[in-house]
Amino acid sequence: MRRALVTGGLGFIGSHLVDRLLRDGWEVVVLDNLLTGRRSNLEHQKGNPRLQIREGDIRHLQTVVSASVGCDAVFHLAAHALMRVSLGDHRADLDHNVIGTLNVLESMSANKISDLVFASTSALYGEAEVVPTPEDYSGVQTSLYGAAKLAAEAYASAFVQLTPMKFWAFRFGTVLGERCRRGAIWDFEHKLLKNPSELEILGDGKQSKDYLSVSDCIDGIMVGYEKSSEPVNIFNLGLQEQTTVDDVADIVIEEMGLSNVRKRYTGGVRGWIGDNPVVYLSIKRIQALGWKPKVSPAETIRSTARWTLEEIGGDRRAA
Ligand SMILES: NC(=O)c1ccc[n+]([C@@H]2O[C@H](COP(=O)([O-])OP(=O)(O)OC[C@H]3O[C@@H](n4cnc5c(N)ncnc54)[C@H](O)[C@@H]3O)[C@@H](O)[C@H]2O)c1
Repeated sequence: MRRALVTGGLGFIGSHLVDRLLRDGWEVVVLDNLLTGRRSNLEHQKGNPRLQIREGDIRHLQTVVSASVGCDAVFHLAAHALMRVSLGDHRADLDHNVIGTLNVLESMSANKISDLVFASTSALYGEAEVVPTPEDYSGVQTSLYGAAKLAAEAYASAFVQLTPMKFWAFRFGTVLGERCRRGAIWDFEHKLLKNPSELEILGDGKQSKDYLSVSDCIDGIMVGYEKSSEPVNIFNLGLQEQTTVDDVADIVIEEMGLSNVRKRYTGGVRGWIGDNPVVYLSIKRIQALGWKPKVSPAETIRSTARWTLEEIGGDRRAA
């Protein structure tokens, strides 16, 4: 039986990946410090003898070394992904996302683990001048988060030269689905429950993004991991259809049963520093392996909006 360490396995995407690995017959060790993760994300797996959950921090080398003993692969999803927090805390991304990744790499080397699968991000393309943006595009960094993920990828690629290790990185834009507790939908629903007649939208609402369903994201990760075997394998995962933040707001408003909501824009093409207004990734490389997204962005946004409403109090449905 193959054994995997999933860092960040109590988070949104990580918990879905754990579900998938368990379904595929893996034994799974989760390492998570509960920064943004929740035990409830894997409550439904309670009692599963193939799952072990460890509370611990990837910033501590020994913690990662001990959690990864006997593993065949590490799926590294633990990250500080709070872009707005990093505006005031310049070390958070370095500590969690770079030093944390170095600790994962050193632990793999110590425990002779060959496969590293990494959740990267489209943020590392900055405000890309080429769209759809291919994997070999190199842009100017616009966030500490993107810069740290790029550095983490670079460290992992260099480790492949030093040790008998293989590396898979998956760069995605915005992933949505059950257990997603931040981002535009989460924000809009909280605001609309407080004030159903007005919605503040960060930026000009025209930011156009890539809203990938978590199921397609996990499928893409597993297809890329299972079907490519170069020493370094880097893939974009995304959609061929763009959706604006305004479109997201409209779906949320409809799902909440509201009408006559006045949209108020904070203005500017970006919602916040580091918000890349256009995210449109080339997915030719992963498509060549047979992956394509199955869920449309409208469906993904709608189902996430429904789940979020339940999560934050369906009984407070403002209709
Ligand atoms: N959600 C998205 O739209 C998106 C887009 C691009 C990339 N990503 C990447 O995918 C991965 C998962 O993202 P997510 O949306 O599930 O985020 P998340 O915040 O739900 O999950 C991250 C998990 O990592 C844990 N964690 C953070 N720092 C840690 C540390 N030092 N030690 C141990 N655990 C730690 C958190 O508690 C959390 O459970 C991240 O690496 C993120 O950068 C996410």
